[in-house]
Amino acid sequence: MAFANYLNPETFKEAKRILKDGSTSQIIKSISQKIIRGDALSREEFIYLLGLKDSPDRKALFNLANAVRRDNVGETIFIKGIIEFSNYCKRDCTYCGIRASCKVKRYRMEPDEIVEVAIDSAKHGIDTIILQSGEDPFYTTDIMIDIIKRIKVDARRPISLSIGERTPEEFKLFKEVGASRCLLKQETINPYIFKSVHGSDYEIRISLLKMLVSLGYIAGGGNIIGLPNQTLGDIADDIIFMRDIGIKMTGIGPFIPTKNTPLENHPVGSADITLNAYACTRLAIPTIFMPTTTALGTIDPGLQYEGFEAGCNVIMVNFTPDNYRQVYRIYDNKRKVEFYETVHELLKRGKKLSFSIMKALREEEMV
Ligand code: 5AD
Repeated sequence: MAFANYLNPETFKEAKRILKDGSTSQIIKSISQKIIRGDALSREEFIYLLGLKDSPDRKALFNLANAVRRDNVGETIFIKGIIEFSNYCKRDCTYCGIRASCKVKRYRMEPDEIVEVAIDSAKHGIDTIILQSGEDPFYTTDIMIDIIKRIKVDARRPISLSIGERTPEEFKLFKEVGASRCLLKQETINPYIFKSVHGSDYEIRISLLKMLVSLGYIAGGGNIIGLPNQTLGDIADDIIFMRDIGIKMTGIGPFIPTKNTPLENHPVGSADITLNAYACTRLAIPTIFMPTTTALGTIDPGLQYEGFEAGCNVIMVNFTPDNYRQVYRIYDNKRKVEFYETVHELLKRGKKLSFSIMKALREEEMV
């Protein structure tokens, strides 16, 4: 690209540094060259990057991903607020603590309460309101439409859905009444692993995800790192899949073993591979909205902040009322990422927050 050095100054600078650095490998040097030419990385290159352990190459990968982030989405860290409105789920995913056959206390928030919590979270200027639940048919098409419409009018923040699979017609209607974003993680693009942990809905899920893109949603995919029998090649395939279908947001987190699920004794997913996957995804999809996930913060809160050094630009904070949050146990010891604590940590680390959050903080005289 003729203008690469002007259009992507940070990436260009970082790539040049890597090319001159005597301690980095030929592989990462050639990857840097591809990045500044705007060429897509291959599966083999992603596998190499995903497997990096603490080394000059890994440092170079993170620096490059961070430079790509700065050039494409700037310095702002976006804070999204999540409301977990129901833990009823008709699915039986083997990794998940709210799977249908898990005997946990179940709750459903009333539409009025969901809207009230959404309006309250919007007062903080949060960049998106995420409505998340298990796959719960109790919330019919009409109930969901009513909730989305009311939040749209009263909260005036972008609305993201994370409610599992619905019909294409429903997703179309939800978009029409005001949901602009939708998360439907592929969890793993490997059909055999998907079938063993999630069920027989692989084709439906993948086609729904593609449909969300074509409906004009800012569509979110994502995968779990450390599922049984998963290889680095599978994770590379997840990244390539998200790149190739036009995914604009992603949630990538380590597997966390959860009591009373079939995978309770399966080891926790690797934090190192998760961070490498963030960096690779940033290289693959430069403008992606990518949170450093709560699952990573559950292994260690410090790790979640490391995500920002590997190309992440989003963090999700929790607005679920406490009595419900405690039983929204998709995995054990799920960390509560609290709004003010997160703001404090981000500002302490010199991160830039969005205009709407800064405005709300000033109005509250918090900054
Ligand atoms: N470990 C890590 N992530 C999990 N999720 C569910 N259970 C687990 C677990 N045990 C993730 C899934 C789902 C999201 C809401 O939480 O990726 O899409």
